[in-house]
Amino acid sequence: MNYVIQIVSLEGLDGFAAFIKNYIKISDIVGLEGDLGAGKTTFVKAFLKSLGYHDTSSPTFSIINEYSLKDFKIIHADFYRVGNPKEFIDYIIENKHNSITFIEWPKDDIYTKKLKITPVGQDKRLYKLCM
Ligand SMILES: Nc1ncnc2c1ncn2[C@@H]1O[C@H](COP(=O)(O)OP(=O)(O)OP(=O)(O)O)[C@@H](O)[C@H]1O
Ligand SMILES: [Mg+2]
Repeated sequence: MNYVIQIVSLEGLDGFAAFIKNYIKISDIVGLEGDLGAGKTTFVKAFLKSLGYHDTSSPTFSIINEYSLKDFKIIHADFYRVGNPKEFIDYIIENKHNSITFIEWPKDDIYTKKLKITPVGQDKRLYKLCM
C-alpha cells in the first residue's frame, strides 16, 4: 500500500490541501477516518478552498453537500447520523465518474482511498492518505 503522511497545523492546512490534491483524482471516493473533532470537515473545507470554494458548510445535518466545478463536482458526505446509508451510497456510486467524493464516517468500505486524521499534541493533526 502507498501512503502520504504529514503533520499539519491549522495554519498549514491550505498548503497541505493544495499538495494532497496531486494524489486525489476524479472518481476517487475518499473515506475520512478519525474520532469526533479529529478534523475531517476542516480538511474537506480546506480542499474546497483550494478549488475556489470559500463559503462551505458541514454536511453533519444535510448528509450530502455538493459543489460543482467546470468538469467535475465535489461530493462531501457525513454518515454519522445515518442509520442505513444505502441510498446515499447508491447516489455516490452513480455519480462517481465525474466526482471526487469525501465521506465522513463511511461505514461501508466503498472508498478507493482513505485519509486517517489523528490529533498530535494540542494544535496539530497527523494526516495519512492511504491509496
Ligand atoms: N490540522 C489541524 N490543526 C489544528 N486543529 C485542527 C486541525 N484540523 C482541524 N482542527 C480543529 O479541530 C476541530 C474539529 O474539527 P472538525 O469539525 O473538522 O472535526 P470532524 O472530524 O469533522 O468532527 P465530526 O466527527 O464531529 O464531524 C476544529 O476546532 C478545528 O479547528
Ligand atoms: Mg465533521
